[in-house]
Amino acid sequence: MTLLVTGAAGFIGANFVLDWLASSQEPIINLDKLTYAGNLETLSSLQGDARHVFVQGDIGDAELVSRLLAEHQPRAVLNFAAESHVDRSIHGPVDFIETNIVGTFRLLESVRGYWSALPESRKSAFRFLHVSTDEVYGSLAKDDPAFAETHRYEPNSPYSASKAASDHLVRAWHHTYGLPVLTTNCSNNYGPYHFPEKLIPLMIVNALAGKPLPVYGDGMQIRDWLYVKDHCSAIRRVLEAGRLGETYNVGGWNEKPNIEIVKTVCALLDELRPRADGQPYAQQISYVTDRPGHDRRYAIDAHKIEAELGWKPAETFETGIRKTVQWYLANPQWVSNVQSGAYRDWVQKQYQAS
Ligand code: NAD
Ligand code: DAU
Repeated sequence: MTLLVTGAAGFIGANFVLDWLASSQEPIINLDKLTYAGNLETLSSLQGDARHVFVQGDIGDAELVSRLLAEHQPRAVLNFAAESHVDRSIHGPVDFIETNIVGTFRLLESVRGYWSALPESRKSAFRFLHVSTDEVYGSLAKDDPAFAETHRYEPNSPYSASKAASDHLVRAWHHTYGLPVLTTNCSNNYGPYHFPEKLIPLMIVNALAGKPLPVYGDGMQIRDWLYVKDHCSAIRRVLEAGRLGETYNVGGWNEKPNIEIVKTVCALLDELRPRADGQPYAQQISYVTDRPGHDRRYAIDAHKIEAELGWKPAETFETGIRKTVQWYLANPQWVSNVQSGAYRDWVQKQYQAS
């Protein structure tokens, strides 16, 4: 039994691999292109562990993916690989179209070729799990009900439009070809190994560096935050027991305005690593120009995954954010290697030399 996991050198994929191998002997083939967001240093504790096989490559490389499938005969493919940062998608959408849409299409075709040739018993047990986002549903007004799985797709950014397109492809490959797919649509994650271009890690590292804490617009946009390990446990549960062709929304019932998130991070840093001058970190908050087309509110209705699969998050926002701030304080080397770019040498040092 083996899993092929794509994009597993990124934030959520790497957390998934670490959690999986902490409690399972089932090996993981990690296919990751190592874009700027891929960081093998996150997985350095698995060095020499035969259960983790890293392959640098693109999900859109049909020859490579078909070869990996034939060689390792996985029982499931989990697709985390994507361009994931909304601001980058606004500045340059092309990579989002290439990976999130065309890449997912090519991956689906490679997987379909492999799956259709499997013997019947393995064919019916096979799963393709697609990791997606709540952003495909668009933006909610203040009093709208949270996104259920039946909410219409209304993506607003190049990123969310590209993820929405990938969800549609996955759905169609099930409907038309019978590929046994599962899709998860999760809200905003936070936790260890989060690349410091996203709100929470950016605020932590900027605060510690004495830099401004840039809050877009009025800071009253609402996101629904989930600790990354709870997202990973949801994916494990959907893989294990999700109904074929279904989508499952994943969220922690933790809606918060951005400014409250930033103030919470500041207050935790005041407690755990006070500024040398004794002043509060909140003094560094700086309101800046808003993100174009900025979605006002996301909120996930997680009743389906809770009722059908019995999944519940283990962390509250209070416990999860404290763990996250503590993790960044305890891992300055990981942060400085990301900031200096040294993390990109890791693959050279660890893999190509051997
Ligand atoms: P990330 O940007 O941290 O990591 C993405 C990984 O994919 C990187 O390691 C990158 O090298 C790899 N990758 C990119 N293009 C590739 C390609 N063509 N072929 C192979 N690998 C490629 O992203 P993340 O935050 O870990 O998100 C993982 C998945 O979860 C994405 O699909 C994202 O849309 C989804 N998601 C993220 C969040 C969140 O809050 N971060 C929430 C819901 C869903
Ligand atoms: O909702 C799930 C999505 O969450 C995922 O699909 C995406 O991959 C992930 O990046 C995330 O998207 P967001 O755009 O919500 O995350 P980000 O951390 O970039 O921003 C969170 C909120 O904070 C958003 O309202 C924009 C705001 N923000 C962000 C940054 C980086 C700021 O105010 N200042 C900032 O500097």
